[in-house]
Order: sequence, then C-alpha cells, then structure tokens
Amino acid sequence: MDGPRVLLGVSGGIGAYKAAALARGLVTAGATVDVVLTRGAREFVGAATFEGITGRPVRGEVWEGVADATHVELARAADVLVVYPATAHTLARLANGLADDLLTTAALVHRGPLVLAPAMHTEMWEHPATTANVATLRDRGALVVGPATGPLMGVDAGPGRLAEPDEVLTAIAAITTGAGDLAGRRVLVTAGGTREPIDPVRYLGNRSSGRMGFALAAAARARGAEVVLITGPSALMTPPGVERVDVTTAREMDAAVTDRAGGQDVVLMAAAVADFRPDAAHATKLRRGDGPPTVTLVANPDVLAGVVARRGAAARPLVVGFAAETGDLEAGARRKLAEKGVDLLVANDVAAAGVGFDTEENAVLVLHRDGPVRAVPRAAKAAVATAILDEVVTALGDPGRVGTSG
Ligand code: CTP
Repeated sequence: MDGPRVLLGVSGGIGAYKAAALARGLVTAGATVDVVLTRGAREFVGAATFEGITGRPVRGEVWEGVADATHVELARAADVLVVYPATAHTLARLANGLADDLLTTAALVHRGPLVLAPAMHTEMWEHPATTANVATLRDRGALVVGPATGPLMGVDAGPGRLAEPDEVLTAIAAITTGAGDLAGRRVLVTAGGTREPIDPVRYLGNRSSGRMGFALAAAARARGAEVVLITGPSALMTPPGVERVDVTTAREMDAAVTDRAGGQDVVLMAAAVADFRPDAAHATKLRRGDGPPTVTLVANPDVLAGVVARRGAAARPLVVGFAAETGDLEAGARRKLAEKGVDLLVANDVAAAGVGFDTEENAVLVLHRDGPVRAVPRAAKAAVATAILDEVVTALGDPGRVGTSG
C-alpha cells in the first residue's frame, strides 16, 4: 500500500460516530488506517464498525498484544496521528503527557504530525483549562481543526461542534501528500527575538516568544509548502516537517537568511530583530562592584532590507514584513510597507492588551502593496497564521502585485 499510514484515535464524544465516515474517507483515499478507541469512545461506537471499514483490527487497551508493544508499533508506523473527536479530557491528557490508555501512550511515542479535532460543549471549550491545553498542544506543533459553531449534544448550540470529516480529510491530505495551496512552494519564516550579548550572562533582548512565526511555519507546512524556520532562542517545539535553523543574534539571523532567501518563493519576516547591539560584548562578567557600565550601541543589519535589496526587480521571493506598531496602526503600516519595499505588511498593535508579544492570541492588519487591507480580528495565532497565508496565496497568484520596483 503506497498511501500514508494514519493512526486514528477516537475519544468519547457524541461525534464519535462521524469517525466512521472519516475512516471510510481515509481508506478510500488510499490510507492504511489503524483505529484506537478510548474507553469513552466504546460507549458511543463499536470496534466492529471500524474493523469492517479499515480491514484491520481495532486496538483498545495497552495490555492487549503486549508482546508486540502495540502502542510503540502503531505510533512508529503512523505518518500522522489524528484524534477525532478530541474530547476536553483527551486534550488535557495529551497536553499533560499522561499515558493512561493506548491512545495517549501511543501519542507519547509518536513523533510525526498530530491533528486534533476538538468537540465539546461551549463552556468546556471556552474554559481557561481547555484554552491552555489547546495552546500547549499548538505550541508543540499540533494542527487543530475546528471546532465549528453549530448544534451540540441535546438542545445546545454554539462553538464546540466537531469539524466535519471532509475538513479533517483535507488537513490530513495536505500533511501527508503535500497537497494544498502552497504545495511545491518554498517558504522561509523568521521567528522569535534575537539576543545581543552584553557579557557572558547578559543580553539585550525583546518580548517575542516566537509563537507567531512558529504558527506561520506550521500552517505553511500544513498547506504543502517546504518550510525553513530561522528562529531566535525559543522553547517552542519545531512543527513537524519543518526544517529549523537556530540563531541567537541579529547578525546570525542575517547570515542564515542571506544564505537561504534566494531560492524561496515566500519570505515571512516575523522575527523581532534587534535594531542595535552593544558594540562589543565583554569577555568577562560585568561586576556590580565595577559600577554602572556604559553600553554603547551600534546598528545591526536590517535583515528584511537585505532580502528586498537582493531580490531587486525579480518577482520572487514574495516578501512579507511584520510591524509592531503603537498609535495609528494603518497609517504606520502603510508608511512602513512603502519604506521597506515589501509585498505584504502584517501590522499588529503591540499596545493592545492580550495580543501581540508573548501572548497566545493576535489581531493584525494585512496590507497589500497595491492597496487592499484585511483586518484579522483577535484569534489564536494559528488562526491568524491561516489568514495571513490566505493573503500570501492571493498575492502569489497575482504576479502584478510582486516584483515591480518601488
Ligand atoms: N527587521 C529586520 N531586521 C532588523 C529589524 C527589523 O529584518 N534589524 C524586520 C522584522 O523581521 C519585521 C520588520 O523588519 O519584519 C519590523 O519592522 P519594525 O518592527 O517596524 O522595526 P523597524 O524596522 O526597526 O522600524 P521602526 O524602528 O521604525 O519601528
């Protein structure tokens, strides 16, 4: 069988019956599907359904097939792990690394892409515990599909409805086949903040966490792009399938970007690069007893300007700049777009509460060089990344928007 191997974990929500349609869709698309049902799932659906659809035994407990180390074998063989539906409880277990059943044990063994389709009542979805768990999983690179807004169990309706099987099939296909609207494109993303050493223990830095850039890298990969992520120091996990290059200083980032930008279709400059650095880092630690030091700053290279200058009149790479603004967002962004000579500029208001630096969410304006502006309202950085890439895809499809001088 040439198709991908999918490990489909079904947890115990009312939408579990739709997992049968998902399994059917995967098999039809040529995938080999192993199904693991949690104890809760087995209250809603039966193993026989999935065995009939997949033609393979359905696994339940860790202590079945111990000699084969089922959890290890299944997880290693899988190209992608999909949890559909993912209940609040299963999300919490995955976020915390629990290993109390076959699904969660296999999840700890698995190293490839993880796709999660949450489904629960609105209150549970909006609870800070669930929000934090989903953020943790996203930070580790999980692709979260849905939930949709609509009818829930009983008479309730609202956000928390399981995404339809087709939506999840599309996401899985993009991951496993490289299909998607960025398939065949090469995308470079910079992320995080740079650190400029003052002495061996101190540095000048900024509040960037890297989340926006990592979300962009993950989303571009999920849409089929070949992605390289050049990042300042960050504790975030590398999104599956993304090549990561770690750098510390602005000059290192400049060298890494210069090295690779030429062959790219798109360069997304989400990093917060320090404009200035101490002129020389002290070789030994500065001591309190020596009195307050004077630190003289010198200019760092403008990495983005270098990419734009080297591109010249060529159409590629499409260059996307990011601007952290305070005050009149659109006016500042429009000016910066022109100054920097980029094709798209993503502006966020760093003075607004709860969005921007070192937060889970963002709200941005995306400005095209030839005029259109899209306002992306406050949402998880993964959703904002998707909206930004929608604009990138639009700009890529319209050669009139790129490569013109000025
Ligand atoms: N940038 C860069 N190299 C630098 C500084 C910034 O490549 N040395 C890039 C960032 O990755 C981002 C954009 O330029 O895409 C950021 O612009 P902004 O935050 O506005 O910083 P500055 O260019 O320094 O502008 P200003 O100081 O006027 O706010």
